[in-house]
Amino acid sequence: MGRLIAVSNRVSPPRELGESSAGGLAMALQAALKASDGMWFGWSGATIPEFTGKLSIERVHDVTIATVDLDHQDYEEYYAGYANATIWPLFHYRIDLTEYDRSFGEGYDRVNERFAETLTHLIAADDIIWVHDYHLIPLARELRRRGVANRIGFFLHIPWPSRQLLTTLPHHRELVRAIFDYDLVGFHTEDWLQAFTRYVISEADGAVTADGASAFGKSVRLGVFPIGIDAREFGDAARSDAARGTFERMRASLAGRKMILGVDRLDYSKGLEERFNGYEQYLLDNEEHRQKVFLLQIAMLSREGVDAYRDLRTRLDAATGRINGAFSTFDWVPVRYVNTGYRRDELAGIYRAANAALVTPLRDGMNLVAKEFVAAQDPEDPGVLILSRFAGAASQMREALIVNPFSREEIAEAIRLALDMPRPERIARWRALKAGVDKDDVYAWSDSFIAALSA
Ligand code: G6P
Repeated sequence: MGRLIAVSNRVSPPRELGESSAGGLAMALQAALKASDGMWFGWSGATIPEFTGKLSIERVHDVTIATVDLDHQDYEEYYAGYANATIWPLFHYRIDLTEYDRSFGEGYDRVNERFAETLTHLIAADDIIWVHDYHLIPLARELRRRGVANRIGFFLHIPWPSRQLLTTLPHHRELVRAIFDYDLVGFHTEDWLQAFTRYVISEADGAVTADGASAFGKSVRLGVFPIGIDAREFGDAARSDAARGTFERMRASLAGRKMILGVDRLDYSKGLEERFNGYEQYLLDNEEHRQKVFLLQIAMLSREGVDAYRDLRTRLDAATGRINGAFSTFDWVPVRYVNTGYRRDELAGIYRAANAALVTPLRDGMNLVAKEFVAAQDPEDPGVLILSRFAGAASQMREALIVNPFSREEIAEAIRLALDMPRPERIARWRALKAGVDKDDVYAWSDSFIAALSA
């Protein structure tokens, strides 16, 4: 095999690569790329007035990082438009938030053409190419049009929607047809894969085989590859001085109270409003527990150029104010709501100080916060994971308290169960979860995908 070339919209900033603050995906890709003297290609994150296609190339820890700037129109139509106002909401089952605009589709195709045009010149005959996520579905099509015959794989980090939803998208067939220009396509769960094959059968007159599908005169291999975290690195981060310092500060600020934790990008798919409502229900149902608990919700700002994200932020500000106004006393606040992000080692300390985590997305491809929470716990006194049945992670993490995130009663009841759970049960559940997080880590994920793509 030649080099591995990874392609994604965002490329992890090179200065983070190899440092403990880099995320699991960055670490795993870096390891895989390093092993083959590979390259990571994508958007630089910068916008300029006019697209130039000028590559910026850096060598970091034996990996080549190649990025291009996009122009303002690309940002609006491709990133804020088709990727994050069309595909993202639709694939997360939010047709009510899905915006269709012809210019978005044009921008999406244009940027994929631009990426392909730039990348084609960097590809050697025996390289294998691994494309990531919904921003780049048509990239293989554009590479094939430019004569690239290499192995190309695609991994979707978000759910694949049901046929009934996908067919609300104008030109949905074109999007699905583009999938068939890959050699291998990976999903996190069996559910997302089946949603894809159902479309192929009923909308594209295709056929499904044991390991793939054929339609549009082409065939593609399909597989389930659930992503994990770098469990060992995260465990180390949880034992670092920074984590211990944050843990001590957090514990001191609990003042004997129990903490329920949420950590998410501020995104409507994460079910934050529903979570707040469930917690409010818990406070209403359990008057005797008020003042003995609080919810710390860390919600990092995200995609603020998209209307739906700004609207959500306003609604969450209001919900926090409503709950705190109704329940606070002069020496207790029920919701601590934070819009900043924390370093991974600090976050590990916060996870460890929590008695329970609410990971309650309405729809999520996988959800790695659930896995990080588990990895960071004290084995002798672990916190309890409350997990949405609609997160991909629920198909693996069955020892969590599984809830329907749309039901405020179920969330309230799960909080009560979690905070009352006897230590032996907490330990037993945690051990089973931790074994899965360790075994199905991010290296197992990338190794198995790359092996399947190369086979
Ligand atoms: C999700 C997507 C990623 C994306 C990330 C952050 O996890 O699957 O592809 O990079 O969100 O979103 P952003 O729009 O800031 O890249």
